[in-house]
Amino acid sequence: MKIGFVGTGVITEAIVNGLLQAGFPVDGIVVSPRSEATAGRLAALSPLVDVASNNQEVVGGCDVVFLAVRPQVAEEVVRALDFAPGTIVASLIATVPIPTLREWIGAEVEISRAVPLPFVADLAGVTVIYPRSDVLGRIFAALGTVIDCETIDEFDAFAVAGGLMGAYFGFAETCAQWLGTAGVPYEKAKAYLAPFFHGLAGSAVAASDKSFEDLRIGHTTVGGLNDQLYERFRQDGGQRALTAALDAVAERIDKARNRK
Ligand SMILES: NC(=O)c1ccc[n+]([C@@H]2O[C@H](COP(=O)([O-])OP(=O)(O)OC[C@H]3O[C@@H](n4cnc5c(N)ncnc54)[C@H](OP(=O)(O)O)[C@@H]3O)[C@@H](O)[C@H]2O)c1
Repeated sequence: MKIGFVGTGVITEAIVNGLLQAGFPVDGIVVSPRSEATAGRLAALSPLVDVASNNQEVVGGCDVVFLAVRPQVAEEVVRALDFAPGTIVASLIATVPIPTLREWIGAEVEISRAVPLPFVADLAGVTVIYPRSDVLGRIFAALGTVIDCETIDEFDAFAVAGGLMGAYFGFAETCAQWLGTAGVPYEKAKAYLAPFFHGLAGSAVAASDKSFEDLRIGHTTVGGLNDQLYERFRQDGGQRALTAALDAVAERIDKARNRK
């Protein structure tokens, strides 16, 4: 199997790094030439990686093609390409629905959408896929966990949740800044908080039978410091603000879906 990427940016670099690190069985990986520095870096990693001369060469020479350009240029890029019937197309392009992709492509291909996250590079990703695809499922299972969606509504909801990355780091930064106001140097604050959150995430992954609420209660002494902090955060609208932000992103995705 040959795997190609149209768009050689941040997420392509992460996936290719992951595939190589996982030793995923491929006959070759072909990346598009634009973003020369990234394409060159990837080609230098392994003789399995080639830089195509243009986007069509990626599509023409590969069994599986990842579309990894930004939504703003997607239509122009995809419409210009000729896909062989039977090609497996994985669109990573946020907000572009499958019927629209099908119209742009205009050939009998298998299309799934996927939302990989940058940590696929470390084989610690969690990738949402819709509709289910055996081949894409195998590829992303090698790079971490796969979540197959049953409906487009489920997929879109996960796309909203994928937007939590920025909020997560914003939350962590607020904590680090607060420690700064209490006299803790930033590096020390980060040295504490990064493993702190990592440990908590690890506990949640390990305790697959427990809800997040179970874990919160398990990590809280009634009337203790954790209890006080969470209650105050909740009373001051912390949860409400987060839910409103998720709703706003969902609305944007829904509008984009209905516009097409
Ligand atoms: N980053 C993530 O965590 C993530 C996760 C899931 C899905 N996605 C989706 O994946 C897509 C790519 O995201 P990204 O973060 O990797 O963006 P990115 O770093 O900006 O990469 C996009 C790449 O596409 C290239 N490009 C632009 N026009 C092109 C053309 N005509 N032909 C071929 N390549 C072209 C860009 O080159 P130039 O730099 O030269 O313009 C750039 O290298 C987006 O649709 C995004 O929604 C991203």
